[in-house]
Amino acid sequence: MSLIHFPQVAAMACLTVTPKSSLADSPVWIRASGLDPSQVVTLHALLTDDMGEKFQSRAHFRANLSGEVDVKQAAALGGDYVGVWPMGLFSSLKPEKKFRRLMKRNVTGSPFRVQVSLFGSVVLVPSPNNVPLATCTVERWYAAHGVERVQVREGKVRGALFLPPGPGPFPGVIDLFGGSGGLIEFRAILLANKGFAVLALAFFGYDDLPQSLEEVDLEYFEEASILLLKHPKVRGPGLGVVGLSKGSEIALAMITFLDQIVAAVCINGATGMRGASLRFRDIYIPAIPYAVEKVLITEMGTMSSYHVMEDPLDERHHSSAIPLEKAQGPVLFVVSESDQSLNSKLFAEAAIARAKQHGKRNCALLSYPGAGHLLEPPGSPLCYCSSFRSTLLPNQWGGEVELHAKAQEHSWKEIQKFLELHLGPVGKSNF
Ligand SMILES: *[C@@H]1O[C@H](CO)[C@@H](O)[C@H](O)[C@H]1NC(C)=O
Ligand SMILES: *[C@@H]1O[C@H](CO)[C@@H](O)[C@H](O)[C@H]1NC(C)=O
Repeated sequence: MSLIHFPQVAAMACLTVTPKSSLADSPVWIRASGLDPSQVVTLHALLTDDMGEKFQSRAHFRANLSGEVDVKQAAALGGDYVGVWPMGLFSSLKPEKKFRRLMKRNVTGSPFRVQVSLFGSVVLVPSPNNVPLATCTVERWYAAHGVERVQVREGKVRGALFLPPGPGPFPGVIDLFGGSGGLIEFRAILLANKGFAVLALAFFGYDDLPQSLEEVDLEYFEEASILLLKHPKVRGPGLGVVGLSKGSEIALAMITFLDQIVAAVCINGATGMRGASLRFRDIYIPAIPYAVEKVLITEMGTMSSYHVMEDPLDERHHSSAIPLEKAQGPVLFVVSESDQSLNSKLFAEAAIARAKQHGKRNCALLSYPGAGHLLEPPGSPLCYCSSFRSTLLPNQWGGEVELHAKAQEHSWKEIQKFLELHLGPVGKSNF
């Protein structure tokens, strides 16, 4: 008589994750079969970023009577998400070390690799003792086939231009990130994959640009616009701009003052100058200084800057407000209702009301309950809080995992539709 049980059924367990290779903003499908009927299993995902930081997620399921789990139909019972959510495992990846943000830095090099493992029981953090029943690794690419990256270092302009394959010309877009500075390229390349020529534009904290943003000099952004429009693969006459956070504030200023900019997408930003004033030739808009004394420290030892930006309805706001009614082109405000960095919805509503008072009607608002400040293309898991260049304490961005992911999926499509509507249609890429 043997005391050893051979788990024969489990040994036949099969894990399928498809497609093996996909773009980072597109869906993946996970299925398991060959399990015991009603067996409780764990699906675990592990991603190691370019810096060696680990991000993990897990979800527990009960196999059905055929011994199968299909994430399109099966509800997670617990783990990093619950309920039916096909992309739940990918969208709920969390850093192993607190306050890290998952972000692709080198977008043209190797893809992110996500290792998905199937365990025959509840496993929270796999140890060497937990042998998976099966494991699959899938690739998440940022560059579609043939999309080209060109380093831009011309005149004062610093950035990276992403061009879809083929002769074009393509609708042109400038892509701006926020107060962390540097050059962030992942949204620009994902947009280029869709057929836009996109300039990821650095404006401080990169190369020989100033280390901090003391003043927003719009001539820099004008120079970048002229440069982009001169490119033979960029279709004029106008450009779009997409900005997040500080980049949103600048995007609004660009469409207001620069003739080259004909459509702006402003994601979770202020609508008046905050912290840094604006200068453009003889135009000067003074900034409202950050009310740093209004910072709130949470129980987790993190900080919320929600009140630091001051209320847009504050009467001091009038002198710092961007006169967006001067903009000819349309503005799409995209705001997250659980933004803990600033009250982006209130800012956007105040700006739209101001535009209306002046007879400007082509402003629209997309507002997402439960989404956080860092609203990005799908594929970026929620970053609730992360360490941030200019602050010593980690900064709270806010958001609820599932609502945030849904907002990213919806807004990403809407942003592309908006740009195509106002810049003209794109060609098709062929990844
Ligand atoms: C179990 O799930 C699989 C995949 O969703 C499905 O094809 C199969 O019909 C299910 N079996 C039962 C008994 O529900
Ligand atoms: C990205 O990685 C590739 C391959 O390792 C390398 O050739 C390239 O120079 C890197 N790009 C940047 C911008 O660092």
